[in-house]
Amino acid sequence: YLSNKQGKQGYIKYVSLVILTLQNATLGLSMRYARTRKVEMFSSAAAVLMAEVFKLVICIVLVMQESRSIRKGFQSMYATVILNVKDTLRVCVPSFLYIIQNNLLYVSASNLDAATYQVTYQLKLLTTAFFAVIVLKRKLKKWQWFALGILAAGVALVQLSSTEKKDSEISTEGQSRILGFGAALAACFISGFAGIYFEKVLKESDISVWMRNVQLSLLSLPFGTITYLVNNEGSMKTILKGFDGFVWYLVLLQAAGGLIVAVVVKYADNILKGFATSVAIIISCVASMYLFNFILTIQFAVGTMFVIGSIFLYGYVPKKPDPRNNLNV
Ligand code: C5P
Repeated sequence: YLSNKQGKQGYIKYVSLVILTLQNATLGLSMRYARTRKVEMFSSAAAVLMAEVFKLVICIVLVMQESRSIRKGFQSMYATVILNVKDTLRVCVPSFLYIIQNNLLYVSASNLDAATYQVTYQLKLLTTAFFAVIVLKRKLKKWQWFALGILAAGVALVQLSSTEKKDSEISTEGQSRILGFGAALAACFISGFAGIYFEKVLKESDISVWMRNVQLSLLSLPFGTITYLVNNEGSMKTILKGFDGFVWYLVLLQAAGGLIVAVVVKYADNILKGFATSVAIIISCVASMYLFNFILTIQFAVGTMFVIGSIFLYGYVPKKPDPRNNLNV
């Protein structure tokens, strides 16, 4: 029974990592495409809000499944979310931050090409490490600090190389690289802090990931609505303006991404998550060359190699010497 269970968990781990890789690559490209199409533009704040609605519905279903009955599921949700309001409010922090983060990612995708955006966003490894040291009092190894330095250098190289040829098919008017870069950078800080905070909340109690995500999404709805209203002059009437099939697909892809992140952190870990995203960068770069006339310069390629290399170096865990192998040394 045990080996069967382990086999199943290993299977979930690898399947979730492969799905995360594909989701990451597709999301970057799709966001860029959605923001540069010459059609009536949708509100990105509305897309973020809709993704939270999807996530909430999916997580409620998963909590029911966990409790093995609809009634028990509702009972345990009532007990955790409503009766334990103080604890629910603790999840307010990442909930608010993820809404801001997801909005910033849209700003970034609107102003930077998909490949540059994807590489820059990897700086979240740096910010995550920073907050892990500060908040969780984790210690980093020497080579991990070195890896973070290489990562920053790689992103700088990518940022300094100019990319994406002007094309009549894609509207690049009114785009600002500085704004895109600034938004990606801010999203990195938020991703780092929210990720670590959520990990702390998750590990300090035995409330399940899905229940935590119900709390997360439930609180995201008011925050997401306020963000939308602030951005759209307080009118809810036109919230779904410009929502065609492609935008709905994008919203689902983003919602699915959040849930896959949760599964990956549960069954694998944050380091494997880093590997998955680095493979996603390669897919994004190759696809960008075909889809967006992206020009791969040497500077960009070297920068990307730095970023990917640093993710591997950061995740490197030296094997403890095995006494049985000592004879072979
Ligand atoms: O890039 P990063 O790993 O910070 O992305 C996190 C994304 O996953 C955010 O869009 C956030 O909304 C989502 N998320 C989630 N549930 C979690 C953790 C993250 O929906 N438990």
